Amino acid sequence: MSELPEHVARNRATGMISRGSTSRRVNAVGHKRSPRGASGRFRRRRSKFFPGTWPARMLSSWDVAPPTFPRRSHGAEPVSLGIDNSEGQLGTARRLQGQYGLDFPLIHGDAEAIGYPEASFDFAISEYGACLWVDPERWLPESARLLCPGGQLVFLTNSFLITLCMPTEDEMAATERLLRPAFGMYRVEWPGSLGVEFHLSHGDWIRLLRRSGFEVEDLIEVRPAVGATSSYPFVSVE
Ligand SMILES: C[S@@+](CC[C@H](N)C(=O)[O-])C[C@H]1O[C@@H](n2cnc3c(N)ncnc32)[C@H](O)[C@@H]1O
Repeated sequence: MSELPEHVARNRATGMISRGSTSRRVNAVGHKRSPRGASGRFRRRRSKFFPGTWPARMLSSWDVAPPTFPRRSHGAEPVSLGIDNSEGQLGTARRLQGQYGLDFPLIHGDAEAIGYPEASFDFAISEYGACLWVDPERWLPESARLLCPGGQLVFLTNSFLITLCMPTEDEMAATERLLRPAFGMYRVEWPGSLGVEFHLSHGDWIRLLRRSGFEVEDLIEVRPAVGATSSYPFVSVE
């Protein structure tokens, strides 16, 4: 653990396993990596997040359950990879693999440094995982490196607004009141919690994504359906 970056070691020490109460899903962002060179042939237009059917080469997840990074396979069966910082979460993933008849490698590791060659994957997804607990200055360049030209990264994290309005006390829902500065937010720690999170303003995300080699394709603010309820104490539907 000593070789891990401090925030990764701390997040590992929390023994994170996804339970309803840990997730603060509010916002979704989709990106597409810039094609290399001037030619447009690397641009592959795909449906909203998943290309056609199952991604041909899926690099699967940085937060298993299931983080997904489809891997390049050049005509062979699609190959996916799941990576997570938590052994417990990987146990869940293994159980689900058995349940759904899936078989692809699951790695206990850090999404900031995945030991695969560049351009190994077509598609990467982080659903409330690496995108929140991993330093974006390291994770985004690593994901750009691993994706082939035209490859897609999709991630889901908190909205910036809720992070500004979330009380430090557990079990208290965010209100309309801004509780922290909007400028300069990056690394966030909550009192009494070992974990380290990363939250950026929309502009900072866009700049960092572009600097890392991505084009920003979409940014979706997820709107709860009429009649929806919240199962997370830190956010009410109102
Ligand atoms: C709240 S869970 C969400 C996982 C999944 N999407 C789900 O809904 O169950 C967050 C996950 O991110 C993982 N994670 C945190 N830091 C990570 C890192 N440095 N590399 C890879 N995964 C990491 C955690 O171990 C945890 O499994």
